[in-house]
Amino acid sequence: MKIWLDGGLRDAESARVSVFDHGLTVGDGIFETVKAVDGTTFALTRHLDRLTRSARGLGLPDPDHDEIRRACAAVLEADPTPLGRLRITYTGGYGPLGSDRGDRGTTLVVAVGATARRADSTAVVTVPWTRNERGALTGLKTTSYAENVVALARAHQHGATEALFANTVGQLCEGTGSNVFVVLDGEIHTPPLASGCLAGITRELTVDWTGARETDLPLDVLERADEVFLTSTLRDVQAVHRVDDRELPGAPGPVTAKAMRIFTERAGNDLDP
Ligand SMILES: Cc1ncc(COP(=O)(O)O)c(C=O)c1O
Repeated sequence: MKIWLDGGLRDAESARVSVFDHGLTVGDGIFETVKAVDGTTFALTRHLDRLTRSARGLGLPDPDHDEIRRACAAVLEADPTPLGRLRITYTGGYGPLGSDRGDRGTTLVVAVGATARRADSTAVVTVPWTRNERGALTGLKTTSYAENVVALARAHQHGATEALFANTVGQLCEGTGSNVFVVLDGEIHTPPLASGCLAGITRELTVDWTGARETDLPLDVLERADEVFLTSTLRDVQAVHRVDDRELPGAPGPVTAKAMRIFTERAGNDLDP
């Protein structure tokens, strides 16, 4: 397996970053997960644009899109897995032990791993912890993801694959690594970005392609929604068949099944929409 690290391709075993890297010591970094099918990336331009937005949000220099495109191509060529997840990680680089940032430049790592196709439906749980819709990191895809690690472990303890958060005012927000949609009276709704959720790329494509509406929704909408589904880079559109103790028999329901079909068709027609 090959890794791209700061300008070149390395063997995974010998690719090393400093133990003082600010991404490691304080989570001062950003990332993207990009799907690759048969060695070809999906929606890479949107992922690179979001990486730049996240970098600007943290005050990191703009990442070099040309280098990252070359890095993605190089790691995929070295490891052309049928269904891959590319991981782009970009950090503040070598730094002091505290929160001040160093001045020796950033760290860029691009790696690819194999992944399995997701199930058509899954179980989710809600968690008591909140997303902060007013934080300095709101809307940025940073490597400060330990809250998601804790929430996802809770989901796994309950036989679920995703945990859903409300924000600080009790509105439905998002999952640890996915956005959430609900169907009410035949209409698809998803929380607006002001809820504090990440601007998921699968979310924005799904909104564009299905006409889903962005609506403030209380967390307890999950107790009465006719259908619930998740979107993310590795889930695409995935139906939900259980929320906490509530079963949603027949998932994917008709509206979700249609959204899944539309997504598959549109994504298949354009690999960089
Ligand atoms: C917190 C969070 N929300 C939502 C998503 C979904 O975004 P995308 O569709 O771009 O993968 C992700 C990323 O995987 C995420 O980390």
